[in-house]
Amino acid sequence: MTRFTMTVVAMVLAGTAGAQQAADAVDPEAASSGGFEALSPEIAAALEAKAAGTSVVSDTWMVAAANPHAVQAGADVLAAGGTAADALVAVQVMLGLVEPQSSGLGGGAFLVWYDAATGQLTTIDGRETAPLAATPRLFQDATGEPLGFFDAVVGGRSVGTPGTPALLAEVHNRWGTKDWPTLLKPAMDLAEAGFTVSPRLAQLVAGDAERLASSDITAEYFMPGGTPVQAGDTLVNLPYAETLGTLAAEGVGAFYAGDLARAIVATVQTAPGNPGVLSEVDMAIYQVKERPAVCASYRAHEVCGMGPPSSGALAVGQTLGMLEGYDLSAGPQDVTVRRLIGDASRLAFADRGRYVADSDYVPVPVQGMLEPAYLAERGALLDGDSALEEVAPGTPAFDHALNWADDEAIELPSTSHISIVDAAGNVASMTTTIENGFGSRLMVGGFLLNNELTDFSFRAHSDGVPIANRVEPGKRPRSSMSPTIVMKDDKPVIAVGSPGGSRIIGYTTQAIIGMIDWGMSPQEAAAIPHAVNRFGTYDVEEGTDAEALTEGLTAAGFEVNARALTSGLHIIAIGDGLRGGADPRREGIALGD
Ligand code: GLY
Repeated sequence: MTRFTMTVVAMVLAGTAGAQQAADAVDPEAASSGGFEALSPEIAAALEAKAAGTSVVSDTWMVAAANPHAVQAGADVLAAGGTAADALVAVQVMLGLVEPQSSGLGGGAFLVWYDAATGQLTTIDGRETAPLAATPRLFQDATGEPLGFFDAVVGGRSVGTPGTPALLAEVHNRWGTKDWPTLLKPAMDLAEAGFTVSPRLAQLVAGDAERLASSDITAEYFMPGGTPVQAGDTLVNLPYAETLGTLAAEGVGAFYAGDLARAIVATVQTAPGNPGVLSEVDMAIYQVKERPAVCASYRAHEVCGMGPPSSGALAVGQTLGMLEGYDLSAGPQDVTVRRLIGDASRLAFADRGRYVADSDYVPVPVQGMLEPAYLAERGALLDGDSALEEVAPGTPAFDHALNWADDEAIELPSTSHISIVDAAGNVASMTTTIENGFGSRLMVGGFLLNNELTDFSFRAHSDGVPIANRVEPGKRPRSSMSPTIVMKDDKPVIAVGSPGGSRIIGYTTQAIIGMIDWGMSPQEAAAIPHAVNRFGTYDVEEGTDAEALTEGLTAAGFEVNARALTSGLHIIAIGDGLRGGADPRREGIALGD
């Protein structure tokens, strides 16, 4: 038994908490030893730069994402004069093949887009929706008690109407210049020819074998003949090639109505043991939504991202806003700096838990939460010497006299982040997900269906007070995804984001602080040892310098826990040329011209 296998077995035995760690923990060697060097000299050079801690540089365009095949697909589009929107389509459909556990056609995504021609920032919400037949009791048993997390996840119950295909079509219609079918073709070809299973994918399959076995189709794909695919195996996905062929010929309308939509609905409704209520009507009425970017000021920058239903921009912006009055220049190994960042994050998470949900269903005090006076008041709470003893939500200015209870959503890490800058200066920052690793474990048309609905609070109310992020028909579950574009003097200067469940917020915030306060390059910022605090416990990244913070943080009054913290930051700095960094914890790279 390898060290990793033993770790996974121990975690599975430990139950849900263990499962969370299993989803996060992958042998660090798997992050860079995928044999991807052989794909091209450019990819080999990008991997070498990442290993050396050096950012990739370029004068014209750049793409950074979680898998070299996907990055190459995007780079080919950009090299041929395509826009960041074109490249985004090519990257996403390739990720759906080679990193299927994290994102794909069966999931949802949020895009932050900077349009170089108009200077405008906008966000596109491609989040999944709850079926019209869903009720606030979706994740409760007959007595009204919340289901166990994986009892809710595995099967049809957790599947929301996918938004990623519609988002890709929308961005291509708005900002694309290349023919839609040509953008799908590289992934279609590789699905037919077969791709080499990476160490990371193989390890995640092995660690999830029991749940993957819950569906015959999923089991047969990832564990043919009952044996989990191994690193180096060739995996052919003909159903995915067929799906992409249909979308290439007929457009994404063929995803939301017709044979594919019927197959998705049938798979959800007949899932053994845990069927869901997704219907053909839910598929047919799905729409992406354009929403205004939510921006927070930080040290002469505007940090802009996705507002509700994501909590990302609000929590990143609140954390930074509370830190504005403090000097963080002592860097990531300074206990006081970490105390400030950790407690600011806890305060932001307290507001998030009470106030943030789908703003089409509940009023969210977006403006009030980012009001400088409110953030100064909350930030003043940090002005002590030790960890905050109590953290409670604040009272941001709110134009509705509504009272919410704190929610209890459980979010485990999966997801993927893509950053792209094209030759015209357009910028795409998109975080994309099927929620848990391998989503609902249901597969149709060669892709996995999401379990995004488990991002809702399983409880609908607490002591008779409703919870903002409760399940409601048609509603979008609250997210932590934080695709971000940082602006300075009305120009984009950083595109950044990460996977990692609700720790996405901490990973993204730390990378921004790394670049603005600590003067780091994108590659250095992606590699900062993590220390993340959401709800009180300070998680420090095991095996890194962050563990050296343990004594000081404990003395400051925090409970400290060393664990794997597998972010997947993909960062592009825009200024005098482009500089890109990819998280050393995963397989991704940045590639320029
Ligand atoms: N499912 C991950 C997120 O949306 O935050």
